[in-house]
Amino acid sequence: MNEVLVTGVNVARRFKQGDVWFDALHAATFSIRAGDRIAIVGPSGSGKSTLLQLVADLDSPSEGVLSWPGLGEPGSLRPRHIGMVFQSANLLPTLSALENVEVSLRLVGDATEPVEVARAALGKLGLDAIADKLPDELSGGQAQRVGLARAVAVKPRLVLADEPTGQLDQSTAQRTMDALLQSLAGSDAALVVATHDSAVAKRLQTIWLMDYGHLTLPKPVDAS
Ligand SMILES: Nc1ncnc2c1ncn2[C@@H]1O[C@H](COP(=O)(O)OP(=O)(O)O)[C@@H](O)[C@H]1O
Ligand SMILES: [Mg+2]
Repeated sequence: MNEVLVTGVNVARRFKQGDVWFDALHAATFSIRAGDRIAIVGPSGSGKSTLLQLVADLDSPSEGVLSWPGLGEPGSLRPRHIGMVFQSANLLPTLSALENVEVSLRLVGDATEPVEVARAALGKLGLDAIADKLPDELSGGQAQRVGLARAVAVKPRLVLADEPTGQLDQSTAQRTMDALLQSLAGSDAALVVATHDSAVAKRLQTIWLMDYGHLTLPKPVDAS
């Protein structure tokens, strides 16, 4: 079995909405291993982002225990060990595509030639021609691929993507998924994608279902 990167035991998240408490995530128990390709699928409001934010160490559980045995200690997981991709690329508007990728490499600080590594990351996603363009000169699909390049250039062991194709049309969405999978091909990084799009989910090996905050994992294959 591949190395365990993240485990969650009875992880719950409760939010106060006005005077009432709302359970956005009920006691979820799961693990994420190196090389996993997981889609978290469920309707809008079912708790997908809540779960991803917890796994990303951007939020803390109300109950239960999360740990990152294969990645490190909370507080220092992003962007070196966990790369995040969101619905919109959130690129820095005054920097070129290349500089946007370069910034994350400089933040992590272990690339000796950040410009060259950034250029290679863009090239791998077919973005050489737009390297010097500013974000507002890019199409939605191009901007999203620059966001992917930025997340994967530092070679995190876990990539979390929250509705990465949510603002794209179907064919651009499929090409963006191609790019995401291609950017991780040959690496043992794990990928977890939250999506309500079944066409996106089909591209990943494992489906986790989310429904009203209840996470259902696939039944383990009986080895006997
Ligand atoms: N910070 C918050 N405060 C209050 N309620 C929240 C907060 N974040 C999420 N929720 C609620 O938790 C539920 C799940 O939200 P979310 O995880 O964003 O779902 P999804 O990503 O599947 O669309 C929703 O009902 C949402 O309103
Ligand atoms: Mg969401």
